[in-house]
Amino acid sequence: MAKKSPKKAPRAKAKAAAKKPARKVAKKPAKAAARKKAAKPAAKKVVKKAAPKLTAVKKTNGAPKMSTKPFGQDGKALDGVRILDFTHVQSGPTCTQLLAWFGADVIKVERPGVGDITRGQLQDVKGADSLYFTMLNHNKRSITIDSKHPQGKRVLDALIKNCDVLVENFAPGALDRMGLTWEYIHKLNPRMIVASVKGFGPGPYEDCKVYENVAQCTGGSASTTGFLDGPPLVTGAQIGDSGTGLHLALGIVSALYQRNRTGRGQKVLCAMQDGVLNLCRVKLRDQQRLAHGPLKEYSQYGQNIPFGEATPRAGNDSGGGQPGWIIKCKGWETDPNAYIYFITQAPVWGAICDVIGEPTWKTDPEYATPPARLPKLKSIFERIEQWTMTKTKFEAMDILNKYDIPCGPILSLKEIAEDQSLRKTGTVVEVDHPTRGKYLTVGNPIKLSDSISEVTRSPLLGEHTDEILKDVLKFKDSEIAEIKGSGAITPPAKKEDAKAA
Ligand code: COA
Repeated sequence: MAKKSPKKAPRAKAKAAAKKPARKVAKKPAKAAARKKAAKPAAKKVVKKAAPKLTAVKKTNGAPKMSTKPFGQDGKALDGVRILDFTHVQSGPTCTQLLAWFGADVIKVERPGVGDITRGQLQDVKGADSLYFTMLNHNKRSITIDSKHPQGKRVLDALIKNCDVLVENFAPGALDRMGLTWEYIHKLNPRMIVASVKGFGPGPYEDCKVYENVAQCTGGSASTTGFLDGPPLVTGAQIGDSGTGLHLALGIVSALYQRNRTGRGQKVLCAMQDGVLNLCRVKLRDQQRLAHGPLKEYSQYGQNIPFGEATPRAGNDSGGGQPGWIIKCKGWETDPNAYIYFITQAPVWGAICDVIGEPTWKTDPEYATPPARLPKLKSIFERIEQWTMTKTKFEAMDILNKYDIPCGPILSLKEIAEDQSLRKTGTVVEVDHPTRGKYLTVGNPIKLSDSISEVTRSPLLGEHTDEILKDVLKFKDSEIAEIKGSGAITPPAKKEDAKAA
């Protein structure tokens, strides 16, 4: 991509330029029609002139011809992009896995003999890479390199020269301690984009190591999650790790796009605190609304519980202006997930009243308007729950959807794993792995119609070391032997074995 990409700058301009004349073309017939009344032949000429203009713009700006291949059969969105993947644990690997699904060649650099620490964490099958690792590292290649060994640095330098993006999520300063400062990388390959996840951005905590829940706590999520009378809570969705990985991926593709125009790489930084805060945007909105009075859509308002200085925990209140709550369904006594999320959206209030058997609430001034209902939300949801408790969550969903009443059954991960529609779309995928056998994973949640993602298994530790040294970095056999002999890509244990032999 490094060599091909300059051609893309004109492509972007051409797209914009091509759009402008297209609009003109649409206008010209109108003008022509006006002229037509006066002089018919003149109008014909205007239309004819407009058409070749479009073709001329495309040619001079080098825009690619539109593919004639069927959608989904003309490569992948990030074909030609090569990633030096120096990530570990969850946040960074989430990002590079997404890039791999979009077609980037992701080369994961791992410490010899050890690899990404998650390979061995939460192991369920003895001797096999854990699901923690396999589910975050699909579609990648693995090379083992001791980045602190001189021969390892030689390989890393070659990788830097041959890749478009370096992605890392080491503790602050670790990359610099390897000698891979921005200045060093930029000098070696001025086109390289260096993308990092850190716990915090510049400031008092910039040197801190951070894991998921630390980010949830410092990014505004924990203080606003949970019930009003309980402690702060972390959520199961990995908004700190996977959420930041997603943010970083967007930063990377944006930087790749800008590089098409500028010809140079740049640093991309995503702090986990910032990523979580971005996802808690509505809570900062509420923080500012507090200065102007109570937050009326929070159920504590209806319960006459005074608001404090900060956005409170809102239990299962709906985040927007439409009150919602989680209520019990048939079977809740034994099934911890026999619940449904129910939203009392104003436009379907009449339908809700009919469904639950309270038709008089449609016109009763105590219930008929959203402001009248706000102080009584608790009792209203209790009445709705009397109805939902007579139905399973799926029966309730079927009935409510007929009336466009927004609701959602609380799906267990077991139910999600068995959901055939998610299998069909490739959001839940079964993958085969040589040491652990078949397992389920979450496929690419972002669907592109012309870049179809296929999920391939995660690499074994160092599985692609030889092919990367040879085919990507073009090292000669003698050089590969020298690097291997140095111990830079061999686990220490094997070095001992070699000595003994
Ligand atoms: N060869 C040689 N050394 C290597 C290596 C390789 N291939 N890969 C990593 N290392 C070294 C690093 O250089 C570092 O050494 P140093 O501290 O002596 O310089 C060491 O391994 C440990 O790296 P570190 O990132 O500190 O790992 P950790 O396990 O101590 O900390 C985190 C893990 C996640 C807390 C930390 O990496 C971090 O805060 N990352 C940024 C935030 C983040 O992404 N958190 C979410 C993780 S899901």
